[in-house]
Amino acid sequence: MELSKLKDKALRDIAKIDSVERLEALRIHYLGRKGEVTKLFTTLPKLNEEERKIRGQELNVLKREIEKVLLARGKTLEHEKLGTLVKAEKLDVTLPGARPSLGHLHITSQAIEEISRIFAQIGFNRVRYPEIDWDYYAFESLNMPKGHPARDEWETFFMPWEHPRLGRMVLTPHTSNGQVREMERRKPPIRMTNIAKCYRRQSDISHVPMFHQFEGLLVDRAVSVANLKGTLDYFACAFFGPDRKIRLRPFHFRFTEPSFEVDVSCGVCGGTGFVFNPSQPPLNLRGEEQSEPPLRLRGGVGELQERCRLCKSGWLELGGAGMVHPNVLKAGGLDPKEWRGFAFGWGVERTYMMKAGLRIDDIRVLYSNDLSFLEQF
Ligand code: DAH
Repeated sequence: MELSKLKDKALRDIAKIDSVERLEALRIHYLGRKGEVTKLFTTLPKLNEEERKIRGQELNVLKREIEKVLLARGKTLEHEKLGTLVKAEKLDVTLPGARPSLGHLHITSQAIEEISRIFAQIGFNRVRYPEIDWDYYAFESLNMPKGHPARDEWETFFMPWEHPRLGRMVLTPHTSNGQVREMERRKPPIRMTNIAKCYRRQSDISHVPMFHQFEGLLVDRAVSVANLKGTLDYFACAFFGPDRKIRLRPFHFRFTEPSFEVDVSCGVCGGTGFVFNPSQPPLNLRGEEQSEPPLRLRGGVGELQERCRLCKSGWLELGGAGMVHPNVLKAGGLDPKEWRGFAFGWGVERTYMMKAGLRIDDIRVLYSNDLSFLEQF
């Protein structure tokens, strides 16, 4: 090919190139070791001296020209590339930002924070005790000696280690293990909350094998059931709302005497056990259906009402409480003639669900990491 034609072709090719990478390929095509121009240099030895000199010079001029144009095109392309980059990456501060999706605390953690804060306000400081503890703290020191049938109810996970004095190691089935530990740690007056994980051999729609409890313990000189009731009333108002009430029912626990089951008035029906529902056949206050629906609005027997589906009775069961048993005080190194105390222990998950008026069909969903459920709280 004529050198001028080759040059024209090369310049046209270079002008058409639109990327630095393709420009490099083109350079190799013309000037590389086997390139179009390089190839021509190999023909030089065949010429006589005179011709070789002229042809050699022409080829060098051609080569340099192509190199020059390649270089210039390269610069232009670099510039253009930078230009588009700048355009693409320009920060427009006036555009609305993309919100990153934010996580939040799990409902159980939210409840734990709130419960600790409420008790901290009346001087109960939060302590932490082992969630894997010796039998002694979980049972024996709480007036539940080995072989006592009450211990069967706890459905405990036992660990393969045993201490000669403290017995077997267990995954704590309740937070009451903190009671004697706290008495051993410091002198009264004691006001503590122990909020921790608990474990029991149970898994069904209303039980999970790992759940949380919060335990309260107060030990002082003149402590009575009235103090316990007052503290629980305070908690109910602070946590559930000012119109909620606490009720103590006699019960039995080995580590308290007297012992109580604690109920809170239902937030859905206001503690009456009935809710207004015009689409349901009316019930009387004994929950029996009334044949003649007297058309009266809310306010008394005979109104259009149905049994509250959350509580069925006006009250929701929270957990246990009582006056610390003298044997437990003794185990903690305290003289029961000098010191008295009250304690209570409830489930965190259960208490939270009662606050929210939640009826979760299967409580295991709390710990199944299902975001569509958890994001609602
Ligand atoms: N530990 C009991 C349980 O898990 C609850 C309990 C009852 C705790 C009475 C207490 C108490 O502190 O006084 O069922």
